[in-house]
Amino acid sequence: MEVYLDNNATTMVDPKVFEQMKPFFCETYGNPNSLHRFGAGTHPKMMEALDYLYSGINADDEDDIIITSNATESINTVIKGVWVDEILNGNKNHIITSEVEHPAVTAACKFLESQGVSVTYLPVNEAGVLEAQTVKQFIKEDTALVSIMWANNETGKLFPIEEIGQICKEAGVLFHSDATQAIGKVEVDVQKANVDFISFSAHKFHGPKGVGGTYMRNGVKLTPLLHGGEQMGGKRAGTVDVASMVGMGYAMHLATTPMALAYEDNHVRKLRDKLEDAILELPETVVIGGKENRTPNTTLISIRGVEGESMLWDLNQKGIGASTGSACASEDLEANPVMNAFGSDSELAHTGVRFSLSRFNTEEQIDYAIEVIVNAVKRLRNLSSSYAYAPETHKSGL
Ligand SMILES: Cc1ncc(COP(=O)(O)O)c(C=O)c1O
Repeated sequence: MEVYLDNNATTMVDPKVFEQMKPFFCETYGNPNSLHRFGAGTHPKMMEALDYLYSGINADDEDDIIITSNATESINTVIKGVWVDEILNGNKNHIITSEVEHPAVTAACKFLESQGVSVTYLPVNEAGVLEAQTVKQFIKEDTALVSIMWANNETGKLFPIEEIGQICKEAGVLFHSDATQAIGKVEVDVQKANVDFISFSAHKFHGPKGVGGTYMRNGVKLTPLLHGGEQMGGKRAGTVDVASMVGMGYAMHLATTPMALAYEDNHVRKLRDKLEDAILELPETVVIGGKENRTPNTTLISIRGVEGESMLWDLNQKGIGASTGSACASEDLEANPVMNAFGSDSELAHTGVRFSLSRFNTEEQIDYAIEVIVNAVKRLRNLSSSYAYAPETHKSGL
């Protein structure tokens, strides 16, 4: 049996989404900016896609949603756009973010630091969450932007976005949230959250890869990252990939209806909890950051004595795909930086395995995964020199 439990890295394109995309390759293939029927023929579905995107995040008609190539581009657009507008051409010089952001945010901030910008990386608490009051404490007169993720990609932990949004609004500071891991898992409502910008990627919610979006509140100014043609009203140059945009819109629609979110919160959560509880029955296992306040599909579990990479190897042999954390970080064997930020001890930081489910997982798959995981833990602990020398109490039952 094959079981895909790495949906925070990417998801399968929903076949219904793929169906919507197909006509835009060989039938309605005109450039949407052309005036003839081949181009204009794309407009109705593009408009429908935009409608789905607006309603999926509860954007106001006056707000903007810019189609990009992925969340990384969206994040860079916001951070570098604010840099140009508020720092290079303004009188501010400070950005606030957290220590557990995706590298798309962290690396963009590091680049800005190399250009003389002051960046504060706020720590998370023991539960892996950034407290809103910490943000308030660090906002200064010259703070141009606060960029805090909606949900963490490794733990699924949800950050207090509404509270942070309110704090930023009161302080007159622009607020960006990387909502890449939140859309389709929990409600993302840009009005309630008081965000000025959010970023997202379609492939995280059963849409195609290579397309994403930036939400911009009405009236907020942002210098574009890409200059060129007048596409997207001059806010993002380059011919729009119609098939991908249509796919993203439909994927957003399927993932954000109240019924879809209820399915995540009930069915997907139940499967995740079943898997997690079975692993937690093994001694010396712990959910990093604890169980509260997470996206319903994610668990990051530390299994003492079991190197994350070895575990993935064993699981892969049995047809199961999981991750040691962010896919972007898994090519090197560095300890998981997010686990480090949570204050895990250095041995534990190498033992995290992330399981991230989706609406396409079944109970039968989870039962199979549990059996494989339990056997893999037994095998790897028997081989582990550090676990073998651990006190007997650590090993009871294995
Ligand atoms: C929280 C978060 N932000 C941003 C990204 C980047 O997304 P993409 O690679 O689609 O640009 C990811 C991808 O893993 C993510 O998990």
